[in-house]
Amino acid sequence: MSSLILEGFMGSGKSTVAARLSEKLGLPLIDTDAEIERRAGKTISSIFAEEGEEAFRDMETECLKQIRRLQEKEPGDRVISLGGGMPVREENRALLKEIGTVIYLKAEPELLIRRLEKETGSRPMLSGKDLAERVLNLLGEREEAYMEAADVVILLEEGEDVAERIRKELKR
Ligand code: S3P
Repeated sequence: MSSLILEGFMGSGKSTVAARLSEKLGLPLIDTDAEIERRAGKTISSIFAEEGEEAFRDMETECLKQIRRLQEKEPGDRVISLGGGMPVREENRALLKEIGTVIYLKAEPELLIRRLEKETGSRPMLSGKDLAERVLNLLGEREEAYMEAADVVILLEEGEDVAERIRKELKR
């Protein structure tokens, strides 16, 4: 067995699917964005605004190291939901391999754009510019990293029960 890690672009539904998987499988849930906010005592938007993106990326790497330490100290499977940019750093991809099975929630850009149009407010990586252009550019930059980190790729279809599909696919 192994911890299940969800990666994917903003709007791919990582947090929601992770919460459902954790419930279905009876495994503890860790959301790296929520962990980082809890430790920093402020929101991700405030971290970006006050300390900059690099500081946030360092916090992401530190968060993975702490999860790895936790797994060593308290072995057992967990469901882990990542921030959308987590797999970009090579160091993070190496840590992810040590922590568990990485599941890439892969979505068509159109689906992501449609979902993100409704809720751009809290996502600093998408602020300021044309949303569709921003999503296409970032996705283009990141796709290789997502694929490299992934052990399993789930192509998202609208309206399906993604958590159930993952459970079946991984026979959990
Ligand atoms: C980011 C995605 C966000 C959050 C931060 C940066 C990114 O997480 O970690 O705003 O670079 O893609 P979600 O994917 O959960 O929105």
